[in-house]
Amino acid sequence: KVIKVLAKERGEKLGDLFGIFFEDLNHAADGGLYAELVQNRSFEFDPIDRKDYHALTAWEKVERGDAKAEIFVEDTYPLNEKNTNYLTLTVIEPGDGAGIMNLGFNTGIPVRQGERYLFSCYARCDTNSTKPVSITLESTDGRVYSTNEVVINSSEWIKYETILTANETDYSSRLVLTTTEQSKIYFDMISLFPERTFKNRPNGMREDIAKLLADLKPKFMRFPGGCLVHDGSLNPDDRDSMYRWKNTIGDVEKRPARRSNWGYNQTLGLGYFEYFLFCEDIGAKPIPVLPAGYDPHHQRIVPIEELQPWIDDALDLIEFANGDTSTVWGTKRAELGHPEPFGLVYLGIGNEEVGEPFFERYEYFHKAIKEKHPEIKLINSSGPFAEGSEYDRGWKSARENKSDFVDEHYYQSPEWFLANYHRYDVFKKDDPKVFLGEYASWGNTYYNALVEAAFMTGLEKNAHAVGLACYAPMLCNIDYVNWKPDLIWFNNNSVYGTPNYYVQKLFMHHQGDYTLMVETNGLQTIEAASSKPIAGKVMFAGDYSTANYYDIKLRNMDTGEEKSYDHFVLEHGSEFELDNIQWENYQLSLKAKKIDGVRGFKLFFGQSDDKNRLLWE
Ligand code: AHR
Repeated sequence: KVIKVLAKERGEKLGDLFGIFFEDLNHAADGGLYAELVQNRSFEFDPIDRKDYHALTAWEKVERGDAKAEIFVEDTYPLNEKNTNYLTLTVIEPGDGAGIMNLGFNTGIPVRQGERYLFSCYARCDTNSTKPVSITLESTDGRVYSTNEVVINSSEWIKYETILTANETDYSSRLVLTTTEQSKIYFDMISLFPERTFKNRPNGMREDIAKLLADLKPKFMRFPGGCLVHDGSLNPDDRDSMYRWKNTIGDVEKRPARRSNWGYNQTLGLGYFEYFLFCEDIGAKPIPVLPAGYDPHHQRIVPIEELQPWIDDALDLIEFANGDTSTVWGTKRAELGHPEPFGLVYLGIGNEEVGEPFFERYEYFHKAIKEKHPEIKLINSSGPFAEGSEYDRGWKSARENKSDFVDEHYYQSPEWFLANYHRYDVFKKDDPKVFLGEYASWGNTYYNALVEAAFMTGLEKNAHAVGLACYAPMLCNIDYVNWKPDLIWFNNNSVYGTPNYYVQKLFMHHQGDYTLMVETNGLQTIEAASSKPIAGKVMFAGDYSTANYYDIKLRNMDTGEEKSYDHFVLEHGSEFELDNIQWENYQLSLKAKKIDGVRGFKLFFGQSDDKNRLLWE
């Protein structure tokens, strides 16, 4: 029973407790938050990304009337060395127009009446002649919603741009490029963005999804993954490279396409600069996660002697985010249009890495970063939480290195979440803090949301131990599902938050600044004697809400012998074997150090349902 809330006496600061986690799975970026409407804009889709992908995925040839054309993807005279594929359109018979169309994501390209769309492409033609190309937005049966024209007039790659205003709303339209000239035209980076993006950023975010995220008022955003960060080869120039942040900044046409471990192609159009900018736009602190040169999925491990470039990536990222224009990477950020620093405070090394190679490498990162940037709070990795997993190894490493945080992940049943409301009660204040970087109960029902809410009160009250927490995964395109449940679901024209989303929102909107000291006068110590002799295994069991922690002492009154069982946590339904003893006359003392929500516990020997064997309840 709570007797006093000492409102003036402050406990732990809750700080940046509740935030969000963005990972590009379920097409969360391309075909999701990233507002680009054209799928496979640079013809870089490849079977390496997904078996059924090819360079013309999402593109179709258009031949109108008597038109006859051929389309190929080639790479002999590329736009640049990072973007080698381009489309060649050979018009043999122009008829009523020959060309290509893009099918977009989901049902097609969503256009809304009265809205403006920014078209751009790189193109060249065989000679320095002029080749008019008509650009239209059309329905699947060829009704035209908007039309404009670009005139290709050089044999060199040039960027062409125009604006299309839709005169109808259609979420299944097509972007069509046709010409009525006999010609050979080469295209690359064919792009269409809604003019209206979140905060009207160029190369920006889809407004409705971004708004739903901003509405949460998250304190931080973790990005870009997840397993997406560490699954890949060690060479940053490989098509299959791990996620290397330097590949993701600068002109979008110079960012190399990448295989995502979630089985699709990542354009990297949504890259580190955009992530930082988005964090700033929604008032969330950025929490980037970098790979540590170890791919636990395929056991690709960078030798320690070759680790320096990976550590440099971390140091350069800090400079990119926080450095001024006297620094190389600070200058780069300023050149990209953001002279002010992004205010990076937290940095994650590794995601769910289990295995010695990671912890061996983490030490090097930690030392180098703390030496140069003691102000940066470093997040170590614990692996996915499961009783008895290598998870404890992460804590050992974090304690040894004095990491600021340990990243814990768990996806569990609703019952697990209820039973673990007290999980962090016993975590120590002077240990590294917990970054609960991924968690969710299995489902998007109201019940799931409710148990997550209950669990989150357990995070709040344990601010001495838990510093950061974010639900995962966050976004899912209904037609490209890699993982469920998810916080937010969308298609190409609408988006909705799940009950779990509204729980997150509630907590983010009403996060306190401090926990308050509370005095209780509930059950603290029980002294009990039993007249029943103990004969055999002594067991201790708890029910649903008994995830408290206990000290138990048994004293043999005949011999004075004592047995103590200190500080163990009891969870729902769990039974502990204390000892195997045969005593006639003894005394039991039990101290429940926390008694929140206790429904019962019992001490017995043998079968728990045998009343005769119950020593004490
Ligand atoms: O959130 C989905 C995945 O779950 C993440 O990529 C990974 O870290 C975890 O295993």
